[in-house]
Amino acid sequence: MMEEKKVFLSEKDLPREWYNVLPDLPDELPPPLHPATGKPLTPDDLLPIFPMALIEQEVSGERWIEIPEEVINAYRLWRPTPLVRAFALEDYLKTPARIYYKNESVSPPGSHKPNTAVAQAYYNKKEGVKRLTTETGAGQWGSALAFACNLFGLECTIYMVRVSFEQKPYRKSLMQAWGAQVFPSPTDRTEAGRKIRSQDPDSPGSLGIAISEAVEDAATHEEAKYSLGSVLNHVLLHQTIVGLEVKKQLELLGERPDVMIGCVGGGSNFAGFFLPFVPDKLKDGLQIRFVAVEPTSCPTLTKGLYAYDFGDTVGLTPLLKMFTLGHNFVPPRIHAGGLRYHGDAPILCLLAKNKVVEAVAYPQNAVFEAAVTFARTEGIIPAPETAHAIKAVIDEALRCKEEGRESCIVFNFSGHGHFDMSAYDQYFSGSLEDYALPQEEIERALKELPPQP
Ligand SMILES: Cc1ncc(COP(=O)(O)O)c(C=O)c1O
Repeated sequence: MMEEKKVFLSEKDLPREWYNVLPDLPDELPPPLHPATGKPLTPDDLLPIFPMALIEQEVSGERWIEIPEEVINAYRLWRPTPLVRAFALEDYLKTPARIYYKNESVSPPGSHKPNTAVAQAYYNKKEGVKRLTTETGAGQWGSALAFACNLFGLECTIYMVRVSFEQKPYRKSLMQAWGAQVFPSPTDRTEAGRKIRSQDPDSPGSLGIAISEAVEDAATHEEAKYSLGSVLNHVLLHQTIVGLEVKKQLELLGERPDVMIGCVGGGSNFAGFFLPFVPDKLKDGLQIRFVAVEPTSCPTLTKGLYAYDFGDTVGLTPLLKMFTLGHNFVPPRIHAGGLRYHGDAPILCLLAKNKVVEAVAYPQNAVFEAAVTFARTEGIIPAPETAHAIKAVIDEALRCKEEGRESCIVFNFSGHGHFDMSAYDQYFSGSLEDYALPQEEIERALKELPPQP
């Protein structure tokens, strides 16, 4: 009998609770600190920019948190997402490994990002917020928040990293189609933007700068709050819907994962995918490897320092304990593949520091080669971010072949690349440069870390 290619769950199998890993971490998570006083943050410090429900989730010690009915209803637009067996990729690689991918690209904006966007829009709406502000790099997060704000009747203001605004006009149109206002960052609308522009009028922008602008906009306007698409505990919490579905789908197949792989920008898709499996590894002793994949041009987990740092460039956000390349780090322009954030989610960093998670970095030409291999075998064009995970999957599957070892490899297919064709174009024309961030540059950026407690 032919084996099934896809595992679907029915809508009634949608998880009804998100999984909070905080009580199951091997160490206590170092608290976020106030940027001015250096003291642990209080909920009141966060109220100007976040609604209370999300602040409570940020610090909650509850293992399971109920998903509101309205959010479930929004999820039903595209969830549950399929778990797919990559038979054609396996055949092409001639590997004894079984490769599965969780296809998060089937959401309306095309990635995992709306899993948290709809939850955040819902809680803000419930607390009377009229407008959400955010930053976006490649445009996936901005389009997800625009989509979610439209669903819940909120206005949406998006600061889009200037270089992406110029390179990806159609992502901007997508955000506009869902009713958002989009500005190339740095702008003249905020103090933070004006400061950067006075130093560098041609600044290509960075996620750190755009975050400064979006936070400032929210903090200085009563009707607005800020929304972050990655890094924070509550974002990772919402993303666990992905891993919880994967768990049910693997159970239906009678499979157990040996390796779980995901790309890392701020850490949300990978964390949401593997965190529900952390107790299987730490409590039940199952041998599962969790592999985080990042670019060599922004090697946060593989070359960064585990230290307190700001989440933005200007120093408005709380200090988070994370692997960081320094908050002033601006990734090189030549990089086409997203994943440009200087830090990573504190939860993911703690697990990396404790060696529960391993990390690997790849240069971009190898990543695009993997993307094209995937497109030519499995058919879907991956987002450049997602292609980092695919590169690691292919390498792992080839190792299995060399060693004659069966293995169950599962990865998160975080998004499609339909709006990233200019990056593919650069790859096909041979104009993508590989770039590994020199150690001296990392050390220079790390010298500007704030004083450590
Ligand atoms: C498709 C896709 N995958 C992955 C990422 C990386 O973000 P995170 O590490 O928070 O999942 C992004 C960020 O924009 C993305 O658009």
